[in-house]
Amino acid sequence: MSVVLDVRALTRVHGEGPTAVHALNNVDLAVAAGELVAVMGPSGSGKSTLLTCAGGLDRPTSGEILVEGTDLVTLAAAELAAMRRRRIGVVFQDFNLIPALTAVENVALPLELDGVRARQARKQAERALAEVDIAELAERFPEEMSGGQRQRIAIARAIVGERKLLLADEPTGALDSETGETVLQLLRDRCDSKGIAVVLVTHEARHAAWADRVVYLRDGVLVGQSGPLPSADSLLATLAAVGAQPRRRRYFAAAQAWLLGQIGCLLGVGVGALLGYTTRTLTRSPYFAVPWLQLLGIVVLVPLFAAGLAWLMTRSRLPMLRRAE
Ligand SMILES: Nc1ncnc2c1ncn2[C@@H]1O[C@H](COP(=O)(O)OP(=O)(O)O)[C@@H](O)[C@H]1O
Ligand SMILES: [Mg+2]
Repeated sequence: MSVVLDVRALTRVHGEGPTAVHALNNVDLAVAAGELVAVMGPSGSGKSTLLTCAGGLDRPTSGEILVEGTDLVTLAAAELAAMRRRRIGVVFQDFNLIPALTAVENVALPLELDGVRARQARKQAERALAEVDIAELAERFPEEMSGGQRQRIAIARAIVGERKLLLADEPTGALDSETGETVLQLLRDRCDSKGIAVVLVTHEARHAAWADRVVYLRDGVLVGQSGPLPSADSLLATLAAVGAQPRRRRYFAAAQAWLLGQIGCLLGVGVGALLGYTTRTLTRSPYFAVPWLQLLGIVVLVPLFAAGLAWLMTRSRLPMLRRAE
C-alpha cells in the first residue's frame, strides 16, 4: 500500500491567548494511492484548514504532513513551492482560472512555472485536458465556458504532470447538481484509473457516497470515520478496514472475472452437449455426433456465455465491477 498523504497530529491555531482559535486539533489522516476520502463537517469545523495545510498553502502550528514521504513542515519556502507545483493539485469551489489565458494555457501554467519547456508543457496540458474529456475546449477562454467545463479545466490543471495528490474544497459548490455529479464521477475515475489520491471536502452526502471513506470534523477534531454510504459498498469499507488497497481490489475483480469465465465454460460445454444430443436424436444423422457439437459449444458458446455473464455482473450493484464501468 502506498500512502500519498499522511497527516500526523496536525494542529493549527489561529491567533494567541484567550482569542486563539483551534482550527485543527491533533488530526491524523492517511490517504492511499487510488483512494478517495471525503471530509465532512459543519461550517467552521476546520475542513478548509485541513486542505490548505495538506496542500502546503498554510503552515500548521504543529504536526507532520507527509506528501509521498516528504514532510512539508520541514521544507523551506522555495522547496515547498516546488512541491506544490510538482506533487499537489488543488481545486476550489470557484475554479480560480486565469481569465486572460486559454484552457490549455491555464493547465500548462504550473508546468511552465516549474521550468518545463513551453511546447512540452503544452503537450502535457493537452493530455490532461483529454483525460477530463474536454480536449476540444483547449483554445477557449474561461469566460466562454460553462461552470462544469471550467471545473474540468481546474481538475486538469490539478492533475497535469505526475501529481498524485488532489485536494478539492467543495469543488461542486458552484455547480448544479447534475454537473456536480459528473465532476465527482471524474474524480472517482481519476482515482481508479491513475491511482491519484483525492481528499474531497463536501457537505453533500450524495457526493460523499463516491468516496471510499468519509471522515468527519467537528471543532477541529476528527470525530469519526465511516465507510461509503450505500450498503452495496460496505464490502469495500470492510476491505479498507483490514488494509485492502486498490491493488487488492484489482485482484478481487480479477478473481471474480476468472470465476465468471469458469461458469461460462461449464455452461457452454453443457449447452453444446445438450444441443448435440438433441440434434442427433431428432435427425438420427451421424454428422451430428455429440463431439462435433461439443466442440461448437466450446468454440462459440463459451465466449458468448462468459461475455453475457460478465455483462450481467457489471450491471449489478457489486462494487468491484460497478467501479470498473
Ligand atoms: N486566517 C484565519 N484567522 C483566524 N481564524 C481563522 C482563519 N482561518 C480560519 N479560521 C477559523 O478556523 C476555523 C476553521 O475554519 P475553516 O477551516 O475555514 O472551516 P470550514 O472549512 O470547515 O468551514 C473557523 O473557526 C475559522 O473562523
Ligand atoms: Mg471551508
